[in-house]
Amino acid sequence: MITRTDLLRTLYEDVLAEARARAKGEVPPLLSRKRNIRARLQARLPEHVLTLLRLAGRVGERMEVSAFVVGGFVRDLLLGRSNLDVDLVIEGDGIAFARALAQEIRAKVTVHDRFGTAIVVLPDGYKLDIATARTEYYEYPTALPTVERSSIKKDLFRRDFTINALAVRLNAGRFGELIDFYGGQRDLKEKTIRVLQGLSFVEDPTRVFRAIRFEQRFGFRLGQETLALIKGAVGMDLFRRLSPSRLCRELVLLLSEDEPRKAVARLGELGLLRCIHPALTWSPQLGALLKGVEDSLGWYRLLYVDREMEPWPVYLMALLDCVPGRAVGETLRRLQVPGRQAEKVKSAHLTSNKIVQRLGKRPPLRPAEVFRLLEERSDEALLFLMAKATSEPAKRRVSAYLTTYRYVKPTLRGRDLKSMGIKPGPIFKKILARLRDARLNGEVQTVAEERDIAKRLASR
Ligand code: CTP
Repeated sequence: MITRTDLLRTLYEDVLAEARARAKGEVPPLLSRKRNIRARLQARLPEHVLTLLRLAGRVGERMEVSAFVVGGFVRDLLLGRSNLDVDLVIEGDGIAFARALAQEIRAKVTVHDRFGTAIVVLPDGYKLDIATARTEYYEYPTALPTVERSSIKKDLFRRDFTINALAVRLNAGRFGELIDFYGGQRDLKEKTIRVLQGLSFVEDPTRVFRAIRFEQRFGFRLGQETLALIKGAVGMDLFRRLSPSRLCRELVLLLSEDEPRKAVARLGELGLLRCIHPALTWSPQLGALLKGVEDSLGWYRLLYVDREMEPWPVYLMALLDCVPGRAVGETLRRLQVPGRQAEKVKSAHLTSNKIVQRLGKRPPLRPAEVFRLLEERSDEALLFLMAKATSEPAKRRVSAYLTTYRYVKPTLRGRDLKSMGIKPGPIFKKILARLRDARLNGEVQTVAEERDIAKRLASR
């Protein structure tokens, strides 16, 4: 797909564009490439992480290799955001380093020989990723890379964006030295997402989704060149060759951000929603639905602080809302959305229109009818229904179900019915359901009233 000329042109244009921009004063000069941020590390990091980084530096010294912490950890440290995902890069044998470090702290090591990487897991479950500094070659676009050992400079060069290509040296004596070859500090200051080189998206199209995710998360903007390269990647339809599971992973990450609505709008603007399904485009209706999901999730989190719920399936329900019925199952299968979540999304898609219509009906449904309409729906589907219902009373019915109706039970139990002389059988289920309905609708207040109903039903 890519000729030598394309390659040269892309690389050359990149350099030219930057020179032109600099001449016009658009791109400020790089900030100092070496600066010590030891004080910031000490002030911002929890003691156990700082101790671990210092230990990594000492192990590096002993093994005569340079050790660096890199990537998102450094970016977030400079942005003042909490991030304890430590990625170490070793200029030397990363796996041997990981083993030596693990021995010092009685940690376990899992090794991936092919990539020269290891994961060190401490006794308390805290994890460190350790990699050998490497250069990667892509034999064809979207292929898995061929890996070769190299320097930190080259290792950082293969990364996605300048803001993620920062490193901090850990070796004792030079602990805290910030390494910035590619203008990461400048772009953090300028609030710009910029690739390091023109083929970045060709090598790894998932980076387009990452760019949009970071842009919205940090309130940054895509650099002009980077935006043009994204448009080029969309034009070349590189995403068709991307494995569906990688696309799905990126989509899940994007939908797991705090307010994914803007990122989804950006995907739409750049023609990327089509990767999910050809019929999918951005519209004000989709925007309103996603806003509704944001609100219902916010409400749920306030109400159930201790309950864990992944938000992305609810957003995915909203995203696929306008996709025709049969295509939803096919899309979920193609993207390899995990089974349980896929089921929830599919079932919500199948039923939500009808349920929303009934929830808004006049005269309004009674609580027992709301219960039957919503029972056995997942919490995710309920939040989606809340978002999708346009009338306030309909929204209130879903929230009443979530907070109250679903917990309502009659006082009488099976054993009480038995002791009343009613013969066990399918009738029990009927009686108990009727009693619950009566409780929900406020038709009974006392056990005596429940007994009356039970007797009446049994005698029928
Ligand atoms: N990286 C990359 N290209 C990718 C994925 C990752 O170059 N497609 C590099 C970046 O340098 C990134 C690092 O690998 O900083 C770690 O990746 P990951 O943990 O996914 O990203 P973070 O930047 O830490 O992002 P997040 O805050 O979302 O975890």
